Amino acid sequence: MIRVGFTRGRVRVSPAARRLFEQYRDVHADAYVQWLCTVVGGWLSPTDGNLRAFDYAMRHMPSEGSIVEIGAFLGLSTNLLTYLAVKHHRDNPFFTCDPWTFEGTERPIGNVFDASRPAYRHYAREVFKLNTALFSEPRMPSAIDATSERFFELWRNRATVTDVFGRPATLGGPISFAYLDGAHEAEAARRDFAAVDPHVGPGGLILFDDSADNGTFPEVTRLAAEVARHPAYELVFNTPNYFVRKRGQTAASVSMHQPAGRAP
Ligand SMILES: C[S@@+](CC[C@H](N)C(=O)[O-])C[C@H]1O[C@@H](n2cnc3c(N)ncnc32)[C@H](O)[C@@H]1O
Repeated sequence: MIRVGFTRGRVRVSPAARRLFEQYRDVHADAYVQWLCTVVGGWLSPTDGNLRAFDYAMRHMPSEGSIVEIGAFLGLSTNLLTYLAVKHHRDNPFFTCDPWTFEGTERPIGNVFDASRPAYRHYAREVFKLNTALFSEPRMPSAIDATSERFFELWRNRATVTDVFGRPATLGGPISFAYLDGAHEAEAARRDFAAVDPHVGPGGLILFDDSADNGTFPEVTRLAAEVARHPAYELVFNTPNYFVRKRGQTAASVSMHQPAGRAP
């Protein structure tokens, strides 16, 4: 496991990383991606740069290892990942984790809605199940009702648990792509990275949501930038969130230095 603290400093984004990000713009024109972003509630718009990282990851992640999503909410990112995995013929196992307990609920939203209500947790969990059972039907993920802390404990123990669909799920093993979009406090973000890192092998990819420079979660930015600067990792591109790859060669890993043009 690598050690990262909370040192400051930006990462210089190379022209190659900027070009690579540009090459993945076609995902925004995918009619099904646009449609999912319209009909499924969530935190991604059809032009969100994270979609380019999803597309890149589904094409280039190592074939030995799982896709892990921390923070699934109503299933928008879940269903986008499923779709892009199917589109790119990737059969890596897919696990999501969410306790459906929300941040920033100290005060009612707009002084109107109390998002800490058990009824809202129930609503979000049920809507996630409906959305995922329908739109990810060809390739259902294992969806675990747990905090990321508990999820990674289960992962380390290679535990078999029952997922929200009532199906057995055996956790553990290498992780090819991790999308970290759960709790965003400094401690939670640090814990999620520390928990996922030992399972990410050479060529494995991590996208830190809400880590953009000058974004709303400076501690997440600081952590992600430090990972991107660490010798064990390299920046793939900024979405503007930090999207990194563990160094080392695998059959599926590719150079960042692609010629200009369409997505490889
Ligand atoms: C921003 S939402 C995720 C949005 C989703 N990825 C999307 O793109 O539509 C954050 C989610 O993190 C979940 N969450 C909060 N605390 C968590 C924790 N400790 N571990 C895992 N997930 C957590 C919340 O329940 C919420 O559904």
